Amino acid sequence: MKQYNIALLRGDGIGPEIVDSAVRVLKAVGEKYSLAFTFTPYLIGGAAIDACGEPLPKTTVEGCLAADSVLLGAVGGPKWDNLAGNLRPEKALLGIREAMGLFTNLRPAKLYPALKDECPLRADIVENGFDIMIVRELTGGIYFGERGYREGKYGQEAFDTEAYSRMEIERIARVAFETARKRRKKLVSIDKANVLETSRLWRKTVHELAAEYPDVELSDMLVDNAAMQLVRNPSQFDVIVTSNMFGDILSDEASQITGSIGMLPSASLSGGSRGLYEPIHGSAPDIAGQNKANPIATVLSAAMMLLYAFNESTAANAIVAAVDKVLNEGYRTADLARGGASALTTVEMTDKIIERL
Ligand code: IPM
Ligand code: MG
Repeated sequence: MKQYNIALLRGDGIGPEIVDSAVRVLKAVGEKYSLAFTFTPYLIGGAAIDACGEPLPKTTVEGCLAADSVLLGAVGGPKWDNLAGNLRPEKALLGIREAMGLFTNLRPAKLYPALKDECPLRADIVENGFDIMIVRELTGGIYFGERGYREGKYGQEAFDTEAYSRMEIERIARVAFETARKRRKKLVSIDKANVLETSRLWRKTVHELAAEYPDVELSDMLVDNAAMQLVRNPSQFDVIVTSNMFGDILSDEASQITGSIGMLPSASLSGGSRGLYEPIHGSAPDIAGQNKANPIATVLSAAMMLLYAFNESTAANAIVAAVDKVLNEGYRTADLARGGASALTTVEMTDKIIERL
């Protein structure tokens, strides 16, 4: 029996509920395919601030580095919103990404046929569906650049800086080219090269690398246009590669056109054996503890873990197929239920998925 040690970072808000759902699904799939999982919880975010005064305790970092993989819920909430930037729950997320060297963030966004009616775009726009893989750079750019306060032209000002090295651009672009190669071989690199110097280096570096991937069709798109194209004609995209902040913004937009942000999983990868899997949505404090959250993004993140971290594609596919079935049968959580359609709770949705494994 194969044995995998998973660190659990439940975090804040709906984090604990959705992580528990994914753990139940992993246990069920493990029984079916003879995989033994051990789960070790660690504190992160607001929960860690409350328990030990810091958002990312050393024991959490050490636990994640020692584990075979990491499953994370979400961090943050109004309770901790007034803390200084470096003490906020979100800082823990950046900290763990950095500590684990997770420079790649894969965020797949596809339209489930069953959710066509939940998509806010006109039917003729999504006629052919869409299946996009966003490759977001995750440990560089403005999220990690120099920041602070200083005296400026108009008195005190705050600043954040965007910096990208050729090495950082090249390694994420390589992941994107490799990803495109396994899909429809189309890569769009998104930047703001008409204004930003970092974007000009980005574009140049991506194009230099393209010589190694003659089978992949590369094009560039400015980020403002990309925001528009995502809602105008999402089916034109296969793989997207972009910087940390542009990827953050565009992946929320992409999630909304799938029907709900509660659907999108993600995998954060280091290029080596380390990885962290989490839904792209936040901690949704407004519905925390109410058994209302959609667990699907986290359940699908667990499926990505089985595939990318453990190479257990049969078990991963079983989870994806079970989610498909549940949606096709018309089951919905509150975020997806429209017009008073009766909504399942988090636990009920999890039960439905497990029954169909
Ligand atoms: C995400 C989130 C985080 C990010 C926040 C919570 C720091 O929005 O994972 O997309 O911006 O990366
Ligand atoms: Mg985000």
